[in-house]
Amino acid sequence: MRVDSIFCLVMFLLIAPASQAAAIHDAAKKGDVAALTAALDSGVDINASDGIATPLYYAIDRGHLEAAKMLIGRGADANAAAKWGPPLLAAAESGKPELVKLLLDAGADAAVVFKGQTALHAVARNGCLDCVVALVEKGADVNALTSLRQPPVHFAKEKGHEAIADYLLSHGYVFPTPPPVSPRLAMADPVHGETLFKENCQMCHAADSATGNLRGPSLWNIVGQKRGKVPDYKYSAVLRGIGGVWSYENLNIFISDPSRAIPGTDMSLHSEANMVNEMLTDAERADIIAFLRSRSDNPLPLP
Ligand code: HEC
Repeated sequence: MRVDSIFCLVMFLLIAPASQAAAIHDAAKKGDVAALTAALDSGVDINASDGIATPLYYAIDRGHLEAAKMLIGRGADANAAAKWGPPLLAAAESGKPELVKLLLDAGADAAVVFKGQTALHAVARNGCLDCVVALVEKGADVNALTSLRQPPVHFAKEKGHEAIADYLLSHGYVFPTPPPVSPRLAMADPVHGETLFKENCQMCHAADSATGNLRGPSLWNIVGQKRGKVPDYKYSAVLRGIGGVWSYENLNIFISDPSRAIPGTDMSLHSEANMVNEMLTDAERADIIAFLRSRSDNPLPLP
């Protein structure tokens, strides 16, 4: 064999697997089962990443069910995460139950968390009830919270997916249960409550009789008043339809953890800018409520 043909052969042996490795990601993006099969038959690692994602991730992300099935049939890792997260999150975002079920049946972790989100949050938001059921049956946590303390049912309610909300509420959802505030109110400190109000509430609410609605409704007269009924304020659907009054206890539960207490509310005490926001303590909530009680034409008697 001549030297130059030996050189060519060596180069071919070096380059061929590399180009097959690139080909497998292209094939996965296109859902080209024949090309995927050829790449795998040539010995390419089924879980190879191109620096961003595995072939299975691309197949799922682009919605190629047959290609994804083939890859799983040949042993692809259903949990191998891409830079953008695990395949199950991509399947959940797509809202396609067949993709979600395929991954779950292949051993994908139903409770996987990526950037403070679970697959259950994604499907509660996009309205895929079959996905919700499949995830919960495989152990997804209906009480999982985003970094802003939102459970999946919060998104279902916010988007008006009532069947999903009902399912989540009846499959282990737990409302917050802070200790009753009434026994604390007699000793609560409304002056400290005003300071806390300024720190935690005033960026969205006024509590005087003159200012009116800001980002949130005016809280002048709020204690003892009907919920969701401040004039000229555009409430979320849940608060608009909630009924009842702001008793001391209702208020206490709501401000202990708004999205958990009234899933779907527009109010959040946490923000992306302030992710380490502490929760209010039992004593702090009592002080804030004592302050709000004083902000009224006719303060409600203490309990
Ligand atoms: C980031 C803005 C924001 C902050 C901070 C905030 N709220 Fe709100 N609040 C809202 C919004 C928006 C609503 C309307 C919610 C809806 O429509 O679901 C609301 C609603 C309310 C309601 C219901 C009013 C009604 O008319 O039924 C009460 C009570 C309330 N907030 C109290 C508080 C208290 C107390 C604090 C501080 C501990 C606070 N909020 C902090 C935005 C905020």
